[in-house]
Amino acid sequence: MNKITKIIEINEELYNIEETPKNEEWLNAVGTTLRQGGVVAFPTETVYGLGANALDKQAAQKIYEAKGRPSDNPLIIHIAKEEDVYKIAQDISDKAYQVMKNFWPGSITLVLNKKENVPVETTGGLDTVAVRFPKHMLACKIIEAGGGFICAPSANISGKPSPTKGVHVMEDMNGKIDTIVSCDNVSIGVESTILDMTVEPPMVLRPGAITKEMLEKVIGKIAVDDGILNQKQPDKPKAPGMKYRHYAPQAEMVVVKAHPLHFSDYICKVVSKEEAIGVICCSEHKDIYHKKLAEIKVPYIIKVLGSEKNSLELTKNLYDTLRGFDQSKVEKIFTESFEGDEITQALMNRLNKAAGYNIVKIDN
Ligand code: TXA
Ligand code: MG
Repeated sequence: MNKITKIIEINEELYNIEETPKNEEWLNAVGTTLRQGGVVAFPTETVYGLGANALDKQAAQKIYEAKGRPSDNPLIIHIAKEEDVYKIAQDISDKAYQVMKNFWPGSITLVLNKKENVPVETTGGLDTVAVRFPKHMLACKIIEAGGGFICAPSANISGKPSPTKGVHVMEDMNGKIDTIVSCDNVSIGVESTILDMTVEPPMVLRPGAITKEMLEKVIGKIAVDDGILNQKQPDKPKAPGMKYRHYAPQAEMVVVKAHPLHFSDYICKVVSKEEAIGVICCSEHKDIYHKKLAEIKVPYIIKVLGSEKNSLELTKNLYDTLRGFDQSKVEKIFTESFEGDEITQALMNRLNKAAGYNIVKIDN
């Protein structure tokens, strides 16, 4: 607490070019901080990560402190070269190899049996280790500079929405960690898919942009953790982090599964005139809610995630939208429920959790 956090702003465009100068001074400094056991937040294509040397148990410990995270919740180890997975994991099956070949670098994390050198402080006491090779050039350069094995949970205070912009990380981590590398917005906006490769069939523990369908085309049958399928808090989630309340804005939140007209009727029925409310919806429905809420004269804010036809847009804007409500005075947030492709399943998984599984279904 009360550290001086160094903030490094990187021009995003520089990192869209393949050939970036290798030995920039800031990169060396960040690498040194990580190798000496410090904590550095940096962007990936999913969300911002809070990085430390994964093979140094004291460094990993600092992450739990900065986030206020329970120590039984294991960290993902990020690598910047596919072959490095063999240095921290063992018994890698042919199916795991196929997933790596097809989807790495990318937004999928594989749970594998760990090797001895990975401290249990990094894996929350488990014999398995979660490994991810991100598709973000800046992230990979930082991982390499820091020694190649960087554990990185999302760079938010435990329980809050994950950061998708540099300013979100500053809100949560300024004064608590050594360095924040900010490079504008991320491209996906929800955390990686987690696939447990230590069971047969392999099991999705957390849905993300790489979907079950995409994986099944490559390795055949995939199972899905009960909690994801049933859209409820699982009794015994296999990814320990899935049992905690997550992604939550300060205001109480409700997911309303209903036609937009029934949705707005429901709001009118349950809100009181003194209570400021928030609504999360797609661009196609916003006018319906504006009209209805203006009629009943409650103070309200409507935030649009994007078009219902574009699930990636909805997903990308989710955490910024949830954090945006924390800056306002709304006391209750009502969100639409989205249906569509499998990426929408990742979006709904986060929304349901943010609402603490407070879900209202209204039949049409
Ligand atoms: O996209 C992402 O994965 C981001 C970026 C920064 O890479 N990271 C991320 O980390 O979301 P975190 O710590 O916020 O979420 C990691 C999840 C937790 O639910 C944790 O319980 C689970 O992964 N996990 C980690 N190691 C595991 C293991 N060995 N077995 C099962 N679940 C594991
Ligand atoms: Mg997280």
